Amino acid sequence: MGAPMPALFRRPVVLWTALAAALAAAVITVLIVVPGDEGDSSYLDSEAPIAERVEDLLGRMTIEEKIGQMTQVAVPAIEGVPSDIRNLGIGSLLNGGSDALHDTPEAWAEMIDGFQREATDSRLGIPLVYGIDAVHGNGALPGAVIFPHNIGLGAAHDPGLAAQAAAITAAETRATGVHWTFAPCVCVARDSRWGRTYESFGEDPGLAVDYAGPVVEGYQGEDLAANTSVLATAKHYAGDGGTAYGTSTTEHYLLDQGVTTLTEEALRAIHLAPFKAAVDAGVGSVMASFSSTDLGDGPVKAHADSYLINDVLKGELGFDGFVVSDWQGVDQIDGDYAKAVRTAINAGIDMVMVPFEYRRFIDTLLAEVDSGGVSEERIDDAVSRILTQKFALGLFEAPFVDTTGAADIGSDEHRAVARHAAAASQTLLRNDDDLLPLAGDEAIYLAGSGADSLGRQMGGWTASWQGTVDAVTEGTSILAGIEEVAPNAAITYSEKATEPIGGADVGIVVVAEDPYAEGIGDAGAGEHDMRLSEADAAAVDTVCAAVACVVIVVSGRPIELTSHLAEVDALVAAWLPGSEGAGVADPLFGGTPYGGRLPVTWTRSNDQEPMNAGDPIYDPLFPLGFGLQTG
Ligand code: GLC
Repeated sequence: MGAPMPALFRRPVVLWTALAAALAAAVITVLIVVPGDEGDSSYLDSEAPIAERVEDLLGRMTIEEKIGQMTQVAVPAIEGVPSDIRNLGIGSLLNGGSDALHDTPEAWAEMIDGFQREATDSRLGIPLVYGIDAVHGNGALPGAVIFPHNIGLGAAHDPGLAAQAAAITAAETRATGVHWTFAPCVCVARDSRWGRTYESFGEDPGLAVDYAGPVVEGYQGEDLAANTSVLATAKHYAGDGGTAYGTSTTEHYLLDQGVTTLTEEALRAIHLAPFKAAVDAGVGSVMASFSSTDLGDGPVKAHADSYLINDVLKGELGFDGFVVSDWQGVDQIDGDYAKAVRTAINAGIDMVMVPFEYRRFIDTLLAEVDSGGVSEERIDDAVSRILTQKFALGLFEAPFVDTTGAADIGSDEHRAVARHAAAASQTLLRNDDDLLPLAGDEAIYLAGSGADSLGRQMGGWTASWQGTVDAVTEGTSILAGIEEVAPNAAITYSEKATEPIGGADVGIVVVAEDPYAEGIGDAGAGEHDMRLSEADAAAVDTVCAAVACVVIVVSGRPIELTSHLAEVDALVAAWLPGSEGAGVADPLFGGTPYGGRLPVTWTRSNDQEPMNAGDPIYDPLFPLGFGLQTG
């Protein structure tokens, strides 16, 4: 039996008042509980439409959790304190430059799953999205197939082949647990002295438009949740390939991250058109450019350009994915960090690649929301865009890595496609007396820095940001490819042509650029000058003076070599052919025809740059679209 009721509550008016107060308290409790702690979790209903799941989840999130989703952090900045992922609700991680942090898919999976457990242990269990620069194969994984860089794929004039390369890259990337690649660069390189020329499909916006859609579809596949698909990124928005020499806003650079000065009409025709194609193909993310555009009223940093991002990209073009900043790109807007953050987010940046001082970013954006500098509506828009892609990636249903595709990484089938892409990109610029194709039983004298250098033929963004001359992954050098394709040839290899040339029937000199990336590759900015190295120049002069010779150029762009051509009988632009050097040998010996055509103008000298087809003065060594065909 319960305790007797106190005398005070025996009076009816007091009793009813107490009951009413208790009922009111109960109702208020239900109304003020922190969002997300109660009710059906329809955002976890995989059958519900994504838009409904986003709306439900957004309604449960605190402002801190929302801003956490807008924060992308580099692994080195957080691996020591992974609980920050859970506690701050970090939305994304990356490792910059396709750095090969681990050398097996399993090790990658273990690392990413470890971070993902932190994320899914958070209050609402929102999974991370992990991104890398898998821009020509999964350059972060030794043993993955490395395709020709975009400049070579552009020379092949085969968007379908580029789409195949993207699809294989996606499969060899997702199998390691990475969900997102910062590719394709749909930049249009208008000055070949730019260190990122090789990341473009060339100077012709029409070519970039032709490639953008198929390549995005290659990466993203039919179903973004499949373990063979990755989220793609059209980059860098906008006008990164049109900067003027010497206008870089970054120390030691000359072109990269500079100012693109042109009319809005020209900007749309040259640099925006490929982004429209990417958006129409359903690209899920766009990366802002470090560069600035000057349409007549002075330069505007792309990261701060509300007109181009909000009005054009999201408004006019209807882009419904999310815009990610570039690496510390927000910091470049203004020395006042709060102003920089406010400006970037209001300009339409949805996720910030901080990527180190993530607490500072979070605290700064929180303060901006508190002060009204950034509206909650803007935050909700950004987070909705990000969550939409995470639901599409299937991360809520399957947040942990599915490595079943790892067995196909580096497979013969994948390598065959890469070899075909390398062969199709080979561009024959001279062939006196039909020297090529060779018969394959000649005495061959082989020289040059690119003849036996897997690192040089793969170029930047391979195993590390800048790439390396070393063989950092499996593949075949051009020398190995020649030995495979022409087993009856008698090859004398001497990189610097110091060995006697003797009775060679033909000389092959493979000249090469050393790898580079971004502004470090800007011609004239440092050791990369778009000219033959002394050793390669000497090898060309020595070999070609002595015997019929073929010069093969392994480079990310045209190289100034006019003064060394007099004795050259055949000239091939090999571009950056990737891990399958046999693809360079195939057309050399007639296994496949030469069919590549220049995706950029090949000038007589660097001083002619920028020179593009359609210019009033156009007098190059080889024009855009030039390429000799064989068999
Ligand atoms: C770099 C590049 C960008 C790349 C990003 C992440 O600075 O500009 O293309 O995706 O950082 O590595």
